[in-house]
Amino acid sequence: MSIHIEAKKGEIAETVLMPGDPLRAKWIAETFFENPFCYNKVRGMLGYTGHYNGKRVSVQGSGMGMPSAMIYFHELIKDYGVKNIIRVGSAGSYQKDVKLNDVVLAMAASTTSGMNNSRFINSDYSPTADFDLFIKAVNYAQERGIPIKAGNVLSSDEFYEDNPEEYKLWAQYGILCVEMETAGLYTIAAKYNVKALTVLTISDSLVSGERLTALERETSFNKMVEIALAAS
Ligand code: ADE
Repeated sequence: MSIHIEAKKGEIAETVLMPGDPLRAKWIAETFFENPFCYNKVRGMLGYTGHYNGKRVSVQGSGMGMPSAMIYFHELIKDYGVKNIIRVGSAGSYQKDVKLNDVVLAMAASTTSGMNNSRFINSDYSPTADFDLFIKAVNYAQERGIPIKAGNVLSSDEFYEDNPEEYKLWAQYGILCVEMETAGLYTIAAKYNVKALTVLTISDSLVSGERLTALERETSFNKMVEIALAAS
């Protein structure tokens, strides 16, 4: 076991889907996996392993924000030999044509976090998705006629910003939406030479002020998980 995960060696698959919400991890395991087995309950951060289309796969909650998620990314890679991490999560739209329910693939992640400032002093690092996982997700969506958007996202350290207009600068530079984990995921994946991808569903819009209801979230999350599993 590692510090935050109580699984025994071998209980976690090489590919792990990672929602922020541990109850979403339970829902994914119970909805999509054959014979799911719960390997982690430490801090309620549930993790499961099962099979999808004959392939062994795991799903692990990450918590919200980079400081929490990085703990799980790190331990999965270093202590359990995980090779592919696919984040599935929600995001807030920064663009008029990125609408509620849209699925967004994060090709790259900009960030407000100081994390990489302390690694790459006076320089910027561009955390990017793994090309193989990205292309598999794109191909699956295109074959099924599922519309997707792909581009640069913002991984923010704060959900509640002081200035509600702040998003406009990022929007001007083409950022599609805001979430809170991907820049950390793509950076640590690069550091340890493993593959990573983030698939997002737009749950709210900073442009229009709209947000999805709980029921609407569930239906749209289905599409996102299907795409993530196809890439796995
Ligand atoms: N996840 C979903 N909506 C978000 C938002 N508006 N800001 C940050 N993360 C989010």
